[in-house]
Amino acid sequence: MFWEKYSYSQIRSKVFESLSKNTNYKTENILGIPGTFLDTDIFYDDAPFLKDAPFLSTLIANPNHIGIHTFGDEHEDFFKGTQEIEKDLIKICAEEIFRAEHNSYDGYVASGGTEANIEALWIYRNYFVKEYDAKLNEIAVVYSADTHYSIPKGIDLLNLKSVEVNVHETTRELLIKDFEQKIESALKNGINYFIINMNMSTTMFGSVDDIEKVTNFLNLLHINYKLHVDGAYGGFIYPFTNNQNSYNFKNTNISSFSIDGHKMLQAPYGTGIFLIRKNLIKYVCTNEAGYVKGKDFTLCGSRSGANAVCVWMILRIHGSVGWTVKMKQLLDRTTLICEKLNDLNIPYFRNPDLNIVTIKADYISHKLANKYHLVPDSHNENPNWYKIVVMQHVKQGVIDSFLSELKNEQQWVIN
Ligand SMILES: Cc1ncc(COP(=O)(O)O)c(C=O)c1O
Repeated sequence: MFWEKYSYSQIRSKVFESLSKNTNYKTENILGIPGTFLDTDIFYDDAPFLKDAPFLSTLIANPNHIGIHTFGDEHEDFFKGTQEIEKDLIKICAEEIFRAEHNSYDGYVASGGTEANIEALWIYRNYFVKEYDAKLNEIAVVYSADTHYSIPKGIDLLNLKSVEVNVHETTRELLIKDFEQKIESALKNGINYFIINMNMSTTMFGSVDDIEKVTNFLNLLHINYKLHVDGAYGGFIYPFTNNQNSYNFKNTNISSFSIDGHKMLQAPYGTGIFLIRKNLIKYVCTNEAGYVKGKDFTLCGSRSGANAVCVWMILRIHGSVGWTVKMKQLLDRTTLICEKLNDLNIPYFRNPDLNIVTIKADYISHKLANKYHLVPDSHNENPNWYKIVVMQHVKQGVIDSFLSELKNEQQWVIN
């Protein structure tokens, strides 16, 4: 995995150069588009700092990246400059992070992980309907009990069947026997097509589903399936902290990935990334999008070009080497928490390649959990787990204070 690091001035020139290739609402005769630059009463564009602020300048210019720009010659060409930046971003994610062959994928910057996950379900549902004449009640989505709620949300929207697989209470592993039994029973009950969601890190635990066990079984039984990877949480950390895993496009069982810029990457909200192998996105072409040159294949329609530019800027300022170091630093800080919890004999779950520590709720008072804003697995009276997510803002001093208060609580319980 390698992408080059750029200096801030290289990034600035690239972004301004790309903006100059976009159609300019201020200087050109644009009569037909229902879009324009941001309101100048509040976002005045003669602010002197803007010449050094490529992201803010892109926000103000307000390019719309509607549609998808990774294939075909037909695109909305009003914003072709910043679309090129989005293409470079998708290329870094697909080819460098997820090891795809050159030009073997499509992708776009979606509103978030929810949209990217639903886009995948939508594509595979239509694929089974179009290619196999499948009825909706013959298509099921299979996912673990620790899966993010965007998957059940998508199942509801798309009117699909669902198969939820249990996980082990302490290891959070998907229970493969339960998986096998539920697939066999679904087959008996008339499900012929499967959309498999694999978590490349769950939201609550940072657990990563054992994709090999799942695909070995599916392939052995010649099951007709498409597999999507939800890397909304783990996508910008796991490939950097564990480079020996099977979650990449070299694994022919995988068709698509969701990865969120607005989590680990510290990009603004609205920066989910969807990646999919070539020749699949066509199943969600909205032909009725007559006025959009190149048609629309996304769920959201209009979307901000500034979001794509911003994710690209973050990846480029670090380069692959810098980003790997940054992610490993988060792991080190997470490991320190685990060492302290071991000393205190407090049970927790932690995947060593991720920055989440999920503590058994019995070992921590509501008061302490609330004081440090730990997130429970459920907001009822008695949660089972509380999680700590070691993000950039989580400073060692705060971790130390929390652990020392936790220790005091334990001593109080023991005495
Ligand atoms: C694993 C996973 N998938 C999907 C999502 C949904 O992402 P978003 O909130 O960006 O729609 C999340 C958000 O936490 C997540 O952790």
